[in-house]
Amino acid sequence: MTDKDMYYNKAKQEGYRARSAYKLKQLDRAAGLFGPGNTVVDLGAAPGGWLQVAAEAVGDRGTVIGVDLQRIRDLDHDTVETIRGDMTDAETKDGLRERIGPDGADVVISDMAPNMTGEYSVDHARSVHLARQAFEVALELLPAGGDFAAKVFDGQDLADLRAEIDAEFEYVRSIRPEASRDASSELYLVGKHRVTAPVEEGEERDVVVDDVGSEGDGVVKIDGYTLFVAGTETGDSVRIRVTDVKSNFGFAEIVEQ
Ligand SMILES: C[S@@+](CC[C@H](N)C(=O)[O-])C[C@H]1O[C@@H](n2cnc3c(N)ncnc32)[C@H](O)[C@@H]1O
Repeated sequence: MTDKDMYYNKAKQEGYRARSAYKLKQLDRAAGLFGPGNTVVDLGAAPGGWLQVAAEAVGDRGTVIGVDLQRIRDLDHDTVETIRGDMTDAETKDGLRERIGPDGADVVISDMAPNMTGEYSVDHARSVHLARQAFEVALELLPAGGDFAAKVFDGQDLADLRAEIDAEFEYVRSIRPEASRDASSELYLVGKHRVTAPVEEGEERDVVVDDVGSEGDGVVKIDGYTLFVAGTETGDSVRIRVTDVKSNFGFAEIVEQ
């Protein structure tokens, strides 16, 4: 039996609407996407296999919102809502933003795929376009620490998109779930821990140390973002260079003058 048949049969037996449900399970296992109580946005969600998997993962206190061009039949999970619309339309994006509200989402996932023409470069370019739409929406909806995953077909524009995602998250990974068809060029770009810090790695600043943390490093606050600076004390005026930017805090070193 091919993998295709295996996952197709498994989905039938286990009550998932699409074999792609197993791709999301594998992505979650590999990258740790979901936690209980999370708010998840699923783009390109019809017929609803990913919605089922996400709803199971976030549990009763979670929320899963699916968007698709196609109507999505109601699911058994009360925590799932759906929006019918085109994610390349401003109207759909506005509706989604309104629905999510100011707290934002914890995870944005996209399995959007273009209608295939069979011409590789066209299909690749269209898939990159859809993944980039999902990425732009994710930047609006994810606060610091949020995660992103989007399907894309491998090809020449992949490296640029990957670099764009890398710049906005702590790190990016390319994952090919085993449940993707053997011959398929599809993969998922996963951005872990959205970074909204007001500083960049390598940047230098003159600062005054506000406090000393529990590990003994000086603490500098920049627009509410915490930087730890080893070897400094409260009240020190120092020039620092940012060495590592994480989603919730970062590290800097003293620049010797
Ligand atoms: C591979 S299917 C998704 C399968 C889904 N993850 C599941 O598990 O059931 C891709 C979906 O992307 C949707 N799609 C493609 N372009 C879209 C767009 N611009 N806006 C919203 N949905 C889109 C298609 O309608 C299709 O249902």
